[in-house]
Amino acid sequence: MARAKISIIGAGNVGATAAHWAAAAELGDVVLVDIVEGLAVGKALDLRQAGPIERFDAKITGSSEYADTAESDIVIITAGLPRKPGMSRDDLLAKNVAIVGEVTKQVAKYSPQAILIVVANPLDAMVYASYKICGFQTNRVMGMAGILDISRFRAGIATELDVSVEDINALLLGGHGDDMVPLVRYTSVAGIPLSELLSAERIEALVDRTRKGGAEIVSLLKTGSAYYAPSAAVIQMAEAILKDKKRILPCAAYCDKEYGIGGYFVGVPAVLGTNGVEKIIELKLTENEQKLFQVSVQHVKQLVAQVDKLL
Ligand code: NAI
Ligand code: 2OP
Repeated sequence: MARAKISIIGAGNVGATAAHWAAAAELGDVVLVDIVEGLAVGKALDLRQAGPIERFDAKITGSSEYADTAESDIVIITAGLPRKPGMSRDDLLAKNVAIVGEVTKQVAKYSPQAILIVVANPLDAMVYASYKICGFQTNRVMGMAGILDISRFRAGIATELDVSVEDINALLLGGHGDDMVPLVRYTSVAGIPLSELLSAERIEALVDRTRKGGAEIVSLLKTGSAYYAPSAAVIQMAEAILKDKKRILPCAAYCDKEYGIGGYFVGVPAVLGTNGVEKIIELKLTENEQKLFQVSVQHVKQLVAQVDKLL
């Protein structure tokens, strides 16, 4: 059986680290593309040379030519500017629409059957831009954010309780902004509801830190944004799709009737398998959860309106 082909556009922090996770997990052959001449070629060569040490067999190609991405099974779009201290994800919109738009055109031309996973920010708006340009069916276009955001929440809970991260289960709804909605009611530790283990104040503090998790790292790094957890998150999505695992993962998926969203990409729990987003799980929400979700969805809609003006 031929290996899967995973193309990663943008060989910066997130893209190159995603290539590393993908190769280490032997998910398939990896093509890394960047606009900066030599960057993707150099990083791909370096990663390939880690193979004999780490014992992974994968063809890893670096390029600035989209022809090398032809017939990819999955294309991950990380090309775009990251934010700097003081910037919000939304401040990246105009520049990243242009980048994501151009990248998507090329990717769709060479891999018309691929599944696209967008990472560039502002995430929910960039998935929409990519979808509009590629013209793929909605199940084949999605964005990565929810796994990252919820992983920040899970890591925070595990640290607070001094238990394994493996035992923390959590869900989250909404866009990839500070108004994201971690769902405390659906969060448990080895099946024990979180509210039985932590006070309401401690839970609220962990939710707040999760919402601001991206900014916390930007303020520490100063020259860019997080990349280890984001790249691990996008490769978890790729793995679920390539292995047809039917995992339920929070990701930016197209919702029309679902949650009454009306045709936007927002963070919801989705079943990921061979066909991409195979199903969206609709949760029963309390009045307050519904209210918070609506605030986040309205934010996404405002960003999409800006994208529409630029496309
Ligand atoms: P980075 O600056 O390290 O890498 C971006 C790469 O894209 C650079 O190497 C650049 O040369 C390349 N690039 C720019 N224009 C291009 C084009 N037209 N074609 C091909 N390559 C191009 O940035 P990093 O940290 O990798 O972040 C990438 C994007 O992902 C940013 O927009 C960032 O905000 C976003 N992000 C989103 C997350 C999420 O949860 N959805 C998490 C982390 C980052
Ligand atoms: C994050 O949340 C930058 O959106 C990215 O770290």
